[in-house]
Parts: sequence; C-alpha cells; structure tokens
Amino acid sequence: MGLELVTAMFCDPGGVVLAEAPTYVGAIITFVGLEAGLEHVECDENGLIPAALERRIDEVRASGRTIKLLYTIPNFNNPSGITLSAERRPRITEICRRAGITIVEDGPYGLVRFDGEPTPAIRSLDPSVLYLGSMSKIFSPGIRVGWVIAPRAVRERLQLLSEATIIRPSIFSQHLALAYLRGFDWRSTLQTTIANYRERAETLLEHLPAALPAGSTWTRPSGGFFVWATLPEGCSADDLFTLVAEEGVVLIAGSSFYADGSGQRELRLSFSLESPEQIREGLRRLGRASARLGHP
Ligand SMILES: Cc1ncc(COP(=O)(O)O)c(C=O)c1O
Repeated sequence: MGLELVTAMFCDPGGVVLAEAPTYVGAIITFVGLEAGLEHVECDENGLIPAALERRIDEVRASGRTIKLLYTIPNFNNPSGITLSAERRPRITEICRRAGITIVEDGPYGLVRFDGEPTPAIRSLDPSVLYLGSMSKIFSPGIRVGWVIAPRAVRERLQLLSEATIIRPSIFSQHLALAYLRGFDWRSTLQTTIANYRERAETLLEHLPAALPAGSTWTRPSGGFFVWATLPEGCSADDLFTLVAEEGVVLIAGSSFYADGSGQRELRLSFSLESPEQIREGLRRLGRASARLGHP
C-alpha cells in the first residue's frame, strides 16, 4: 500500500519510474496500474550501476518524458538477491539528487541478513529518500502492516491520501504488530528464523550446480529469500518452468520481473519456505527437468 500511495502522489500517468532490472513483480503491477512508465536500469553483482543510471536518465529525458521516481530494493533484492554495495549508495543518491528524482527505498528484506554488518540505508544518506518498511518478512505477511519514512510534508500528504483511499489501515493489525514488537523478544526469534533461511540458502547453493544446465550462472545472496539464475544461451526459462512444473516444483520465470518481457533465460528460485530436505528433493527434480530441456 505504501508504494501505491507514494506512486500515486509523485507520479502522474505517463510519468516515468526507474527500477532495477529485474524488479519486484508487485511493484511492476503497481506502476502499470497507476499508468506510470517503468524503465529498467542495468545491475551487476553490486546492484544498480551508476553509469547505467545516468545513461537511462539521459535516454528517458531525450524521449521527452519526465522521470519522477527511482524505485530500488537495495538489500537482498526481490528477485535477484543482490545488494547495492555501500560504495555505490552515495553515488546513486547524488545522481538522483542532481536529476531531481525522488528515491523510493523498499526495504522489506534488510533485517533478513545472514551475517556481516548491515549496509547503511540510502535514506540515511539523504533525508528526502522515501523508505518503505514492512512487517511481512520479520513477523507475518498476513497482517499487512508496513510503514513509510518520509519528510514531514510528504508524510502529511500521504496520510491524507491514505485516508482518502482506504480510510485507515487496519487498527487490529497494527495492534497485533505493536504487541509483537513490544511484548516478544522478536530480535531473538528473527535470529532463529534467519539461521533457518541461511541453512536453506546454503543447501540451495550447494546443490544448484547439479540441477541447472551446464553454463548457467546464479547470484549468491547473503540474505533475503531468493537466488536468481541465468541459463546459458539458447535455453528458455519458460520451457524449464513447464518441465519442472510437471515434476511438481515451482520456480518463477524471469520475464515476470521485467516490464518489457525480457529475462527469457532468467529465473527466480525461492528458498524461504521449504526445508533443506525439500530443497534437495526439489533440486533433484529440477535436475531431471534440466536434462529434458536439452542443451542446444
Ligand atoms: C520488494 C518487496 N516489497 C514489498 C513486498 C510486500 O510487502 P508487504 O507485504 O508489506 O506489502 C514484498 C513481498 O514480497 C517485496 O518483495
């Protein structure tokens, strides 16, 4: 809901939102629904590439369109699992500041870090950044409680817009979230959950080489829920999706995470839900499906 309100507030129909390539499918649906134009910015293993961001800004402007927002998931991106490096964050912030583009930092996975020190939020570098937080990955997605950290003027307008759109977010859900945060040792619970996620991610990464066609590559996330794989030239993620579905396994083909239908050789593997045993079994089945895919 936070992203919908922010997009509605900042982006008239036709205004452009820049986002990572690939990006969260829920965000794509939001932007399409509000008639914002979505343009992707190239990433590498360190996240958004500053030079690619500058290039995209120039291209979009040259086409006569106005860029309103940069939507980014800098920590353990959904779907890529990639984290924007600490070194790049000031540069990205500076590029957007100079170009008059507001950054929307979506941070639901930030606390789901397997090890190491947290990377400072982009918001900590620039108070004009709009930060979206969520209870979904640290408590429960079902309660649908999140928050926006924004400059006061933006916050006040967001409150009005929220009131006009949904009257008010569920009081019951907010009380549940408050009771959880105040009454439980949620940090310890989260550490236990993270240890489970880490074990699942390690299991997935250990067995993935045998499960994908030779020549595939993939990300190695240090947090979050997802690994992003790229199949070799000539292989189709849609075909693999169909074959592995016949084996009773679900993965998501990459094109869902691009507004322009690219990502034909890419796919998202999720490790958050299944146990290590189930992940091993799922990968055995993926291996069978990959063998049937045939290698050109
Ligand atoms: C990047 C990203 N943002 C937001 C959400 C959803 O957050 P919420 O449940 O608070 O709407 C998700 C959930 O999958 C996500 O991956």
